[in-house]
Amino acid sequence: MQWAVATYDTAFGYVSAHGAPLIDLLDPRPDERIIDLGCGTGGMTVEIASRGAEVLGIDGSVEMVNTARSEHPNLSFAVGDAHDFSTGDQYDAVVSNSALHWMTRDPSAVISRVREALRPGGRFVAEMGGAGNCADLITAVQTAWRVFGLPEPELPWYFPTPGQYAARLEDAGFTVRLMEFFDRPTRLAECPDGAADWVRLYAPELIAEVPPEVAGPVLDKVNELAAPALRRESGWMADYVRLRFAAVR
Ligand code: BEZ
Repeated sequence: MQWAVATYDTAFGYVSAHGAPLIDLLDPRPDERIIDLGCGTGGMTVEIASRGAEVLGIDGSVEMVNTARSEHPNLSFAVGDAHDFSTGDQYDAVVSNSALHWMTRDPSAVISRVREALRPGGRFVAEMGGAGNCADLITAVQTAWRVFGLPEPELPWYFPTPGQYAARLEDAGFTVRLMEFFDRPTRLAECPDGAADWVRLYAPELIAEVPPEVAGPVLDKVNELAAPALRRESGWMADYVRLRFAAVR
């Protein structure tokens, strides 16, 4: 996934806006050592650091990490793939917001890496898209692709049920202390062209596979199909569904 960093910072305003309950769940203490996994440009990393913890932000995108470093020069960031990162030391907690659903190659490998990074008793606290996340948006995409005779799009996300993710955590040796599963309709403030913009922003690889001459009409069809469920007088909404959990090594 190639991120447009400037758009990420504005479009993911909701990440920091909704990050507060996650940080409260994490409850970072002064002098704790914490990893922010999938830190993006460091918006949550800086919040955690402001509570006195020592935080290392890790992200797979060089562009994100470069931006994080220039915006937060006093904090530590590293480029790393969550599927195979390793740390010399063991940390008190790993936290992750709106990132685990992008780590599709092997979710259990990510969980194993997190476990290795934690001391015994260390916490893994995260929020991610859960089963049914963006269902109306995704159905509109799949239907539009079908209408235009395009191959079924391969979606770049993993949205597990609470049971599926809890099983992976337990298989890796975690004790699950909390698993929440809830709807969180979210305003698409940075998508004036609605669902079409959402696809452009979050799934550009899907559009890259569409012949250029039909890309516009396909995205118009996505908007037409998604509008009844997601367009309000006040603007477009995304039908987000969240998993929020806390587990202990
Ligand atoms: C999410 O945060 O749930 C999400 C955002 C963009 C694409 C897919 C999921």
